[in-house]
Amino acid sequence: TRLGVLLSGRGSNFLAIAEAINNGSLRGCEIVLVLSNKADAPGIDAARQLGLEARAIPSKGIPRQEHDRQMIAALQDARVDLICLAGYMRIISPEFIAAFPNRILNIHPSLLPSFPGLDAQGQALEYGAKIAGCTVHFVDEQVDHGTIIVQRTVPVLDNDTHDTLAARILEQEHQAYAEGLQRVLSGEYRIEGRRYIRK
Ligand code: GRF
Repeated sequence: TRLGVLLSGRGSNFLAIAEAINNGSLRGCEIVLVLSNKADAPGIDAARQLGLEARAIPSKGIPRQEHDRQMIAALQDARVDLICLAGYMRIISPEFIAAFPNRILNIHPSLLPSFPGLDAQGQALEYGAKIAGCTVHFVDEQVDHGTIIVQRTVPVLDNDTHDTLAARILEQEHQAYAEGLQRVLSGEYRIEGRRYIRK
């Protein structure tokens, strides 16, 4: 399975996927393209250092549809089968989703459907949640929404700051993405309504 990874920044989730492939814990896929909507995303440099094909398609000042068309074209040229959004900080258009039906995964640093959108960790702290976590899910037309594949939980501690909570969640994200990908690649699951269940 040919994976495309989309990111906008640091790229630690991308690196965790790449590491899982390299150490053999995630089998049956290869990363064929890493795309960023930001030219200066550290994740792009990291990808190149691993010898992976990586490109920036800057989104600044470009209408979403036009930018998404460029992204879709690059992903199709690379014959990508499955797309991982990994800290891709841009909402994707219905056209993008339609081009890869049930073929786009996202990771979000909350237990969806709680706290979608920006700064999910800050939202959880602000709300006073005692349990937080992350979700790997299929992408649909709503933001941070779609059939859930994997969730992992962490406690929220009384003395947590934004950074300590985000770091605790991030550690789980790195494991959850590879686990979610492995489930999808295994072909043992199907989507039934909102549920992702064993065949
Ligand atoms: C992660 O917390 C991810 O869940 C969120 O953005 C962050 C990206 O981190 N959507 P990284 O770029 O993968 O290090």
